[in-house]
Amino acid sequence: MRRKVIAGNWKMNMLPNEAIEFIQNLEKQVKDTQNEVVLCVPYTDIFYSILNAQGTNIKIGAQNMHWETTGAYTGEISAEMLKSVGVEYVIIGHSERRQYFAETDETVNKKLKKALEVGLNPIVCVGETLEQRENGEATKVITSQTEKAISGLEANQVEKVIIAYEPIWAIGTGKTATKEDANEAVKQIREKIVEIYGQNVAERVIIQYGGSVKSTNAKELFEMSDIDGGLVGGASLKPDEFAKIVNYNK
Ligand code: PGA
Repeated sequence: MRRKVIAGNWKMNMLPNEAIEFIQNLEKQVKDTQNEVVLCVPYTDIFYSILNAQGTNIKIGAQNMHWETTGAYTGEISAEMLKSVGVEYVIIGHSERRQYFAETDETVNKKLKKALEVGLNPIVCVGETLEQRENGEATKVITSQTEKAISGLEANQVEKVIIAYEPIWAIGTGKTATKEDANEAVKQIREKIVEIYGQNVAERVIIQYGGSVKSTNAKELFEMSDIDGGLVGGASLKPDEFAKIVNYNK
């Protein structure tokens, strides 16, 4: 059985004092869950979040990284830097980074390789736009993004990748993919991995759904056969709401 990974993506929200308060509150509410709980926080919250999450079952992730170790890349943070302060997860290729910060399938692939090399758990985002979905291109887009992201990885590395299927039209819009559509898309991603690495490897890959996940729809989505948890934006900013999502199966 694959584990369920439920990750909050705070995006550009939360000051350190808010992060500390959030974690102290959330911790009490999720301490008994079997699900993996991750908070992907802004860089400026990482230090405080890790200190406050020590001894709890909350793991801390970042939202981006650079693929080089060091160098003249003003404003960037390397995977080694994240690892050195105790970060365990990193989001790679979120659609907002692809859309606003020129992230490409190629940079996603470079970042993914580096994250795995240093032992971070990568959460790689793929997803189609509304236009692509309406043109019947959704499958092509998400399987191609997946294939390019994992290109050149060894089978034992692919097993460690977490993929988040996030239809762009569902992010921050309140519109959620139906549980059937989301499950179907996740299955297509898994099928692509079967094609390249075989059934055994593909069965081990965690594939989440993301896009307007909230406490009222988490259960029906996460109980689908192929959906292994979620990447949660807006609803991860309130501890009670995020705790309900984490505890969807309680
Ligand atoms: P949302 O964001 O839950 O606010 O739709 C999800 C994401 O962008 O990861």
